[in-house]
Amino acid sequence: MRAVVLLCLLHVAPGMSQFNWEGPERVAPDAVTSSASACNVDTLSCECCKMVRETKRLQTYFNTTLTNLERELDKANQTFVALQGSRVAFSVSLYTGDTFKCYGPFGVDTIIAYQHIFINLGMAYNMATGIFTVTYPGVYSLAVTSFSDAGSPGNILAVCTSLQVNSQIVAGSRELNRNDQEDSTTIAVALKLKAGDKVSVKLAKGCYLCDDSNHYNTFSAFLLYADA
Ligand SMILES: *[C@@H]1O[C@H](CO)[C@@H](O)[C@H](O)[C@H]1NC(C)=O
Ligand SMILES: *[C@@H]1O[C@H](CO)[C@@H](O)[C@H](O)[C@H]1NC(C)=O
Repeated sequence: MRAVVLLCLLHVAPGMSQFNWEGPERVAPDAVTSSASACNVDTLSCECCKMVRETKRLQTYFNTTLTNLERELDKANQTFVALQGSRVAFSVSLYTGDTFKCYGPFGVDTIIAYQHIFINLGMAYNMATGIFTVTYPGVYSLAVTSFSDAGSPGNILAVCTSLQVNSQIVAGSRELNRNDQEDSTTIAVALKLKAGDKVSVKLAKGCYLCDDSNHYNTFSAFLLYADA
């Protein structure tokens, strides 16, 4: 009798579940009546077997619950990771320094490499190339403000920039005259962009932009609506 009880308790002990004593396992699921009758024979071992059965039931319950919770956590994490990836916003300007200086004129159309970064969430804007590579598809809000200073009255002012996607002009801005010594232009559009699209601002040949830490020349974009 004592041996039976001892084996029963060993079965309950952690790490002993591989023990191959099959006594309690053979008890049918509807064992209430049979164990009840077993209790008449041997009350102590019956209580032990009930304990083993209850432990197993709880093990299964907690295991199932844990598995479900892990699945839910995984789903929530995937949503969170996707949401983090969709946080794309950048805003840059031409120069960081205090010295007023001009960018251009150049002999060819040139992509403007804006050097001062206000924000570059998602790191989609590349300061070395001036190109914003779309990482997350969706509807983007884009804006470009261009400014120049002719230096003195009567000189030609030449603000000529264009917003381009994959080298195709989307919208342009132009202030080419001798009437204003300084002037600025703005482009603001909403565009549906796909992953891999390359967005940049091009300075037309012969034109030039001037700036300092006042940040008169800016280029900004942010994801307005992510594709589902
Ligand atoms: C817990 O559940 C998992 C997945 O359903 C299963 O693979 C594993 O064997 C279970 N473990 C126990 C101790 O029941
Ligand atoms: C969430 O998912 C990311 C990417 O798959 C993974 O690196 C990270 O460990 C996960 N975090 C949790 C809490 O599961």
